[in-house]
Amino acid sequence: MGSRVNKYRRICILGGTGFVGQHILNRLTNTDFKIRVISRHRERHRELLLFPEVELVTADIHDPQVLKENFSDQDVVINLVGILNQSGKKQATFKAVHVDLTRHIIQACQMKGVKRLLHMSALNADSAKGPSQYLRTKGEAENLVHNAKNINVTSFQPSVIFGLEDDFFNRFARLLKIPPTFIPFPLACADAKFSPVFVDDVAAAFTVAVQNEATFGQRYALCGPESYTLKALVEYTAKLGGIKRSIYGLGDSLSKLQAILLGFVPGQPFSKDNYLSMKIDSVCDTPFPALFNITPASVESIVPSYIGQQSLQARFDDYRRTARR
Ligand SMILES: NC(=O)c1ccc[n+]([C@@H]2O[C@H](COP(=O)([O-])OP(=O)(O)OC[C@H]3O[C@@H](n4cnc5c(N)ncnc54)[C@H](OP(=O)(O)O)[C@@H]3O)[C@@H](O)[C@H]2O)c1
Repeated sequence: MGSRVNKYRRICILGGTGFVGQHILNRLTNTDFKIRVISRHRERHRELLLFPEVELVTADIHDPQVLKENFSDQDVVINLVGILNQSGKKQATFKAVHVDLTRHIIQACQMKGVKRLLHMSALNADSAKGPSQYLRTKGEAENLVHNAKNINVTSFQPSVIFGLEDDFFNRFARLLKIPPTFIPFPLACADAKFSPVFVDDVAAAFTVAVQNEATFGQRYALCGPESYTLKALVEYTAKLGGIKRSIYGLGDSLSKLQAILLGFVPGQPFSKDNYLSMKIDSVCDTPFPALFNITPASVESIVPSYIGQQSLQARFDDYRRTARR
């Protein structure tokens, strides 16, 4: 559906080494595109060098000059860079990663004549009404890209994304095993709702959108077919993982307290900002956008292939079999 532009050949991806990025790369490498991925740590992603179409560059994307140099011969930019929690480092704050970086990307695209930008946002991103800094800065960035002159922009707002290497089901599978497992697992924001969307469906939407004029100027909310409470999803993870542990949903005050305390734990498994993001349900009002011609995969059709399986190889084989494409 929609008209194809067929004139784009070279794509620069920021955040292409991440969870979603690798799935987008998998899809784009089966096409005619030449792809440049910019990473802070090229040496950690040497597997990407196996793709002949992929050029992996180490550079500091927060330096506007780096963006200009790397965009000068490109047709399309895809920005997937995002963080769920900020650290004290200058280039790891929500403002630096979501807003300032996006502004620099827009300026570099405009200076170097890049006419096509695909931007990753998040469901409920809203610069004014977002309850958390994550959602407000994601909203600010989304507004910046959609107000940018001379660039055809498409943005995507997914709910939580699942797949083999996800940081949602895998994280809960790990957390549930932390002793003492005979006590109920204390779950913050247990009633918050999500419509988890499969990473390969998100990747497919990006790759279809690249050349499709009908997607120019559009913001797409991306959700899976079903909504669940967080408690239901964690109970399902425990069941798949064979973990016999009950889940105790914390009330609002204890959820907030847990968020504040875990915010001090290295790696911030949960933070006050995450707690605030969950004040709004992460569910869509509309089905998966018809233009992409995708029937979104359900949690039940994919997650059992990678949670609770014995070996990594078994998980991989099963996952490859289960994922429909
Ligand atoms: N995963 C989800 O459930 C979900 C849901 C909604 C929206 N999103 C959005 O989707 C996008 C991709 O998510 P993901 O799960 O694929 O994330 P991810 O695995 O963490 O990958 C993000 C990539 O961004 C780069 N990056 C991270 N922090 C950075 C920083 N401070 N400065 C510069 N680069 C940085 C990293 O690349 P290098 O280390 O190679 O530099 C990383 O590979 C993000 O914008 C995220 O907010 C994700």
